[in-house]
Amino acid sequence: MSTQKRPLQFVLCGTDTNIGKTLISSFLVRGLDSYYWKPIQSGIEKETDSETVFRISQVNKNKILKEAYIFKEPVSPHWASEIDFNPINLNKLRLPNIDSKLVIETAGGLMVPLTRNFLQIDQIKIWNLPVILVCRSSLGTLNHTLLSIEALNKRKIPILGILINGEKHLDNPRTLKEFSGVPIIAEFPMLKHFEEKQLDILWEDLNMKEKFNSILNEQ
Ligand SMILES: Nc1ncnc2c1ncn2[C@@H]1O[C@H](COP(=O)(O)OP(=O)(O)OP(=O)(O)O)[C@@H](O)[C@H]1O
Ligand SMILES: [Mg+2]
Repeated sequence: MSTQKRPLQFVLCGTDTNIGKTLISSFLVRGLDSYYWKPIQSGIEKETDSETVFRISQVNKNKILKEAYIFKEPVSPHWASEIDFNPINLNKLRLPNIDSKLVIETAGGLMVPLTRNFLQIDQIKIWNLPVILVCRSSLGTLNHTLLSIEALNKRKIPILGILINGEKHLDNPRTLKEFSGVPIIAEFPMLKHFEEKQLDILWEDLNMKEKFNSILNEQ
């Protein structure tokens, strides 16, 4: 029997929109030197998430995979696609055929509709990949995060861990871990600058290499 491990591929999902998925994707893509895929981008006002990840992570451009859909309006994909008269064809959301590390950033949270009868979490189940959940550190996170974990558990979608984003909270990490049993991978601090050097220091300080090695060993 082969002992070859599958490359680390996971879905980075948030407990909400605007929770820090793209910033943390940049951090992980840089640290892991992985591929990045944002299958559905809703809203193109400033820059796309793919452009942000490329700018912040400074990985090789070929590591940033092309979106399946880019919609104009910053609203839920099911509606954004209707506004653009560009319905989502689920066949276009098939996993890219790459045998390397991959971070997939979702559009918003788990229960975001991709069509009128298909949710983001249904797509994650089809991808058959584990999830890393990004949540805010502050008030409101216990409810959002525990609900998200319950939805993932119900569908038997494996959760690699939680990444808590924002100002350190004295109790929320412990409470999340105790109620969910899901490991806290790291508490990601508020950053003033998103420079490569700062991300590299943080990668060391948060012990990310060892954490991902142990995640890989447990897979
Ligand atoms: N730890 C942090 N320190 C400083 N700024 C942060 C931090 N986390 C998030 N932000 C800022 O908050 C905003 C939202 O973050 P981000 O774009 O990563 O969220 P998102 O979950 O990817 O949003 P979307 O649902 O639109 O994809 C960005 O301007 C980002 O730079
Ligand atoms: Mg984003």
